[in-house]
Amino acid sequence: MGKYGKLELVWAGKEDTPPHNPCVLLEDTEKSYKSEEANGNILIHGDNLLGLKALAGEYTGKVKCIYIDPPYNTGSAFEYYDDRVEHSQWLSLMRNRLEVLFTLLSEDGSIWISIDDGECHYLKILCDEIFGRKNFVIQSTIKRSAPTGHKAINQGPVQVCDYLLCYAKNKQHWNYKPQYTERDYDKAYNQYIANYDKGVEHWRFIPLKSFLKKEGKTTQEIMYTEPEKIIRFAQPHFEGVGRETRELILKSKENPKRVFVQRRENHPDIYLVKGNRILFYKDKLKLIDGGYKTAEQVTNLWLDIPFQGIAKEGGVVFKKNKKPEKMVQRIIEMSSDPGDIILDSFAGSGTTGAVAHKMGRRWIMIEMGDHCRTHIVPRLRGIIDGEDLTGISKVVKWQGGGGFRYYQLVLPSTLGQHNK
Ligand SMILES: C[S@@+](CC[C@H](N)C(=O)[O-])C[C@H]1O[C@@H](n2cnc3c(N)ncnc32)[C@H](O)[C@@H]1O
Repeated sequence: MGKYGKLELVWAGKEDTPPHNPCVLLEDTEKSYKSEEANGNILIHGDNLLGLKALAGEYTGKVKCIYIDPPYNTGSAFEYYDDRVEHSQWLSLMRNRLEVLFTLLSEDGSIWISIDDGECHYLKILCDEIFGRKNFVIQSTIKRSAPTGHKAINQGPVQVCDYLLCYAKNKQHWNYKPQYTERDYDKAYNQYIANYDKGVEHWRFIPLKSFLKKEGKTTQEIMYTEPEKIIRFAQPHFEGVGRETRELILKSKENPKRVFVQRRENHPDIYLVKGNRILFYKDKLKLIDGGYKTAEQVTNLWLDIPFQGIAKEGGVVFKKNKKPEKMVQRIIEMSSDPGDIILDSFAGSGTTGAVAHKMGRRWIMIEMGDHCRTHIVPRLRGIIDGEDLTGISKVVKWQGGGGFRYYQLVLPSTLGQHNK
């Protein structure tokens, strides 16, 4: 049994405490942009353990959503960073950082971590230890590529997925905001209300196919223009429904020619015919990317996020390691509101800050590579100036605005030299 008194993962060096070099944040005003409008947006250049510790105190319990995309430890040397460390070193690196991230999260906050098969299962156990197994929310599978090219020659089935681990700081306080994804027409909706304007009691139902044939129309043509008239019948559940509904179901069975309605406050009305519920196609339509679409709730299988074609997002090239803005947008929408603080301590090309900015959230990013200056700064300047038309810009109707402050991490003893 370890420090946490539970089942835990053990490795050489686990209990070694990282060197303690407390750093302070020193603004580099030349790299900050429109800082008078920064509204708390912060970009930190340097190692994230030092950066996170410098944020602790002021930001403890204040961050609503953390998204990190750490090196997966794939054994590759990428153009912008090295992704090959000894397994136990990787675990220590993650553990030290996750412990600080945990303290920064607000009571109703959540953390989302991208990872692949290599370290996923070790990371899950590590996170259980730090965040508490009871706060594990879900592991989502994200299709990121197709089985073509060099990947197809690996032994075994082709690996085309990433995973996304999600933990709440405190699952009881976490307020999940359901998201929707577009789906094909739901063929179970195969009936049409022939006399919709006549009044509910007298509604007459005909097969949708007959209506379309008679009118010479297609489903596609009417599903968005007449969704209130397209319906399906569904067996009602007796369990868990109130007495009033149960009585109405029986009444509806006894009077098969009439439609019955139970009007309800703060809940959708219930429509019944022949003891069956009437479900309307209009209730399947949700606002997605600015338009009403046939939708279903997002599950833990994300097949609808295109990774192809993201190379140009943000106007910066970050080969193989950039995440799609649409994916980060979904995470932020599920877990935060405008004005909330979003944090990414493995910022890469700055996707998280870029998306958070366009979604009206405040953001904090930390990146140790030179690309903090060469990629993130120009990406954000483009967004602030309203020149970025990539990623989610169109769907959120991005017009520009805001600013950020750029910080270096320095030892307090050297502050005097920096201030000269
Ligand atoms: C996979 S990339 C993140 C890509 C990012 N999600 C994007 O869309 O551009 C991981 C990043 O973490 C950075 N990184 C790795 N270790 C770090 C550390 N100790 N401190 C700060 N950044 C680090 C790397 O330099 C790299 O840019």
